[in-house]
Amino acid sequence: MKRYSKNGKGDLFSVKTATILSILVFIMAVGASAFRKDDAPVKEVKWSAADRDSIESVKAFATVYKVLMSPRCMNCHPAGDVPLQGDDSHLHTMAPKRGHDGKGVFAMKCSNCHQETNTPGLHTPPGNPDWHLPPADMKMVFQGKSAHELAKQLVDKKKNGNKDIKKLIEHADDGLVLAGWNPGEGRTLPPVSHAEFKKAWLTWLNKGAYAPKK
Ligand code: HEC
Ligand code: HEC
Repeated sequence: MKRYSKNGKGDLFSVKTATILSILVFIMAVGASAFRKDDAPVKEVKWSAADRDSIESVKAFATVYKVLMSPRCMNCHPAGDVPLQGDDSHLHTMAPKRGHDGKGVFAMKCSNCHQETNTPGLHTPPGNPDWHLPPADMKMVFQGKSAHELAKQLVDKKKNGNKDIKKLIEHADDGLVLAGWNPGEGRTLPPVSHAEFKKAWLTWLNKGAYAPKK
C-alpha cells in the first residue's frame, strides 16, 4: 500500500512535471517561431531599402549619360540607319546602312573596312572583331534621347535586347564598350575613364536604376 501510494504520488508528480515542461517547451517554441516570423520580413525590407537609393542612383546616371552621349558611343547608337563619324557625329561618309543584323548591306559590310584592330593613321577605320550597329529590330538608339528617356529604355527588356540587370552589368565590359576607350588616332576619349564609367553604371543599376526626372 505504502509503495503503491508512493508510486501513485510519484506518477502524479511526474505527470505534473511533464505537463509543465511540455507547456514550457510549447511556449518557447511558439515564442521562438513568432520571433523568427517577425524578424525575417523586417530584415528583408531593411536590406532592399538600404540598397535602393534614388538620389545616389540618379546621380550616378548623370555620369553614365555623359558617356553614352559622347561620340565614341553615340556614333554606333544613331537615330537613323547610318552610323555617325567623328567628334561632331556627322553621318558616316558613303552612308553604309545598318542592315537587319547591323553589319551592313550587300557589298557595304562594316567588316570590309573595319578590321579586327584599329588601322594606324588619322581618319582610318577603328577596328574590332565584332564592329557593327545594333540590329534593325532592336536599334538601341541613344542619339536625341533625354536622360529620362534613355534610363527608361536601357532597362526595358523589349528595347535593350532582353537584358536583365545581370546582363546589363556584364555589358560594362563588352568588347564594343571597351572599344570606346581605344578609339584609334585623333579621336577624343569618353569624358571619364572606363573604371569611372563602370563604377557609375554599377551604382546606377544596383541602387535601383532610377530615371532622372528629365
Ligand atoms: C561599333 C559600334 C558600337 C560602339 C562603338 C558602341 N556600341 Fe554599344 N552596342 C552596339 C551593339 C551592336 C549593341 C547590341 C549588342 C547586344 O545586344 O549584344 C550595343 C549595345 C549597347 C548597350 C546595351 C543596350 C541597352 O539599351 O541597354 C549599351 C548599354 C551600350 N551598347 C553602351 C555603349 C557604350 C557605353 C559605348 C561607348 C563606350 C558603346 N556602347 C559603343 C554597338 C556599339
Ligand atoms: C568603305 C569603308 C567603310 C565601311 C563599309 C564602313 N565604315 Fe565605318 N568608318 C570608315 C572610316 C574610314 C572611318 C573613319 C572616318 C574618320 O575618322 O574620318 C569610319 C568610322 C566609323 C565610325 C566612327 C567611330 C568613332 O568613334 O567616331 C563608326 C561608328 C563606324 N565607322 C561604323 C560603321 C558601321 C556600323 C559600318 C557598317 C554598317 C561601317 N562603319 C562601315 C570606313 C567604313
